Amino acid sequence: MAYPSSVKLVDVGPRDGLQNEKQPVPAAAKIELVHRLQAAGLKNIEVTSFVSPKWVPQMADNREVMAGIERRPGVAYSVLTPNMQGYQAALPSRPDEIVVFGAASEAFSQRNINCSIEESIERFRPVAEAALAAGIHVRGAISCTVGCPYEGEIAPSRVELVARLMKGIGVQHIGVADTIGVGTPLKTRRALEAALRHYAVDEVSGHYHDTYGQALANTLAALEMGIWQYDTSVAGLGGCPYAKGATGNVATEDVVFMLHGMDIDTGIDIDALADTGAWISGVLGRPTQSRVGKALLAKRETGEVAA
Ligand code: HMG
Ligand code: MG
Repeated sequence: MAYPSSVKLVDVGPRDGLQNEKQPVPAAAKIELVHRLQAAGLKNIEVTSFVSPKWVPQMADNREVMAGIERRPGVAYSVLTPNMQGYQAALPSRPDEIVVFGAASEAFSQRNINCSIEESIERFRPVAEAALAAGIHVRGAISCTVGCPYEGEIAPSRVELVARLMKGIGVQHIGVADTIGVGTPLKTRRALEAALRHYAVDEVSGHYHDTYGQALANTLAALEMGIWQYDTSVAGLGGCPYAKGATGNVATEDVVFMLHGMDIDTGIDIDALADTGAWISGVLGRPTQSRVGKALLAKRETGEVAA
């Protein structure tokens, strides 16, 4: 089996991880999280979203967070922009990449961004056009590519449709997301195959929430297809502690441990990453959700030697 020799991880913790937090997280903590992630070697960080503060209050400090970051050369900072209003609000923050986000499920599209799939593409069209003209990379995220909380199982043909529509408006890269973590390796493969009908392997990434504990297996299945880009979240941040079953993205620490164990390079210092996961979990007042993070911290406490 030929695996990629290196993998690009986008840490989406500051955005996907924190967007559902009920308690206000100060902008200073979000900024420090970005600083710690880049110090740990992350070269791609999804910082915030320019969405309605009525819908997602936690991201209302988007401008302040973007303005507070000390940028490192070689690090790309991404933000979510669902429409022209979001794009125009984001532009002064000089994002390196903007993300338009649609869904393979009609019901999820309606609930998440208040419009149909078709309408969403029309909202994204001018955003992609403007970003491309400004030299900003355009990524598209497709939610619910294997399952939807409202519609149940999602057929790969739905993923293919949205990938085709996104390609048609100039979206350069597509993220195939398992929003509720119900995917298993074969379903994950089928969703990726659908996206690969319209995008090259270098233009597709995996985004796996770990609700059912399948995300590492799904990552391995995707690696076997040559997919080398993934969204992950430090400490497994995300989801809502009060919403039964909702959890965050697969923990960056867990993916990095697996990849390094396979001799796949990430450029990330796993110890610094585990410290970052412990730190942000402390800010939120709970233990890290990363199994690897917990194990590394416990090993340090007991002074155990690595196996
Ligand atoms: P809408 O209500 O259809 O928009 O919302 P509208 O154009 O009708 O405007 C209504 C109001 O929203 C107006 O304000 C606008 O100014 C305001 P009012 O006059 O009532 O005071 N508005 C905005 N405000 C700030 N920024 C904007 C913006 N646009 C309109 N960009 C909208 C459409 C998309 C804005 C709304 O539905 C929304 O904000 N939804 C939240 C979506 C979201 O952030 N979801 C989470 C991120 S996606 C995700 O997590 C999935 C992902 O991780 C992959 C996966 O795991 O599946 C990416
Ligand atoms: Mg997500």
